[in-house]
Amino acid sequence: MVNIKGRDFLSIGDLNGNELSGVLDAACAFKRSLQEGDTVRSLSGRVVALIFQKPSTRTRVSFEAAIYHLGGGSITMNASELQLGRGETIGDTGRVLSRYVQAIALRTFGHNEVEELAEAADVPVVNALTDLEHPCQVLADLMTVREHKGVLAGLHLAYVGDGNNVANSLALGCALAGMRFSAGCPEGYEPDAEIIARARGLAGGDRIRIVHDAREAVSGAQVVYTDVWTSMGQKDDHRRKRDLEPFRLDGDLLAAADPEAIAMHCLPAHRGEEISGEVMDGPRSVIWDQAENRMHAQAALLDLLAGG
Ligand code: CP
Ligand code: NVA
Repeated sequence: MVNIKGRDFLSIGDLNGNELSGVLDAACAFKRSLQEGDTVRSLSGRVVALIFQKPSTRTRVSFEAAIYHLGGGSITMNASELQLGRGETIGDTGRVLSRYVQAIALRTFGHNEVEELAEAADVPVVNALTDLEHPCQVLADLMTVREHKGVLAGLHLAYVGDGNNVANSLALGCALAGMRFSAGCPEGYEPDAEIIARARGLAGGDRIRIVHDAREAVSGAQVVYTDVWTSMGQKDDHRRKRDLEPFRLDGDLLAAADPEAIAMHCLPAHRGEEISGEVMDGPRSVIWDQAENRMHAQAALLDLLAGG
């Protein structure tokens, strides 16, 4: 079993390949134990604070359910209701919360905010999504790919659409897992350049590709992934939609991938925009498994970071 006790989880790249594989093993073990009604109660007597600066359905509910199944307590807060909204610093908030709780998850805008919280807090801090990364999502995504394909190493995952937080974490996660990653996006919508450079350093340059054609990106891919064209906090304008239109994941695009390719989306989706309803509800979609696996992956993560 991997030992990541007491650490923060701000980026998927905070884990090495071995640790990532260990967290995924633990997530599968948790899923089995929940099905058998026999989960470890490793958060018994422990409390986790969940702070949201942006809306959430899956992250909030999957964290709360995971903590419940591990025997712990959760306190979910909208950041605007805290003194944070009146100017108390993130650092001071972290120092105080560390006196009450055994882990903190934060969803916010600037990635520097989770870094500041982690710097000040004495307890593990988990990134529940920033503008730069969504590492908890990618744990669940890799778990889902592994469930459906049996392995990760050697697979090709193609991401089409806006090179956003999810794309960034996928690039790093694929590199750590020994997978190939292609992003197909319009010019000006590429994933973060520093993250891509880091992923290339981990995987080898030719295994992490950015192309400006959706069909070229998905050609031969065993996994095809997309996400919204306008992320939380971004301006929803006509230009984005016009630029991203050729990158919609529909039946035609999926047909350009491997014949057995699976289709993924982190949700929430805008049906008919970045993904067609036909693909979402079709036989190749593993989207609902992805959503379920958020809970199993985060249970494993919290157990490993903060469990007793
Ligand atoms: N995928 C995801 O993080 O969903 P929520 O925004 O609903 O938490
Ligand atoms: N890229 C999306 C992901 C939502 C889970 C966003 O940041 O809004």
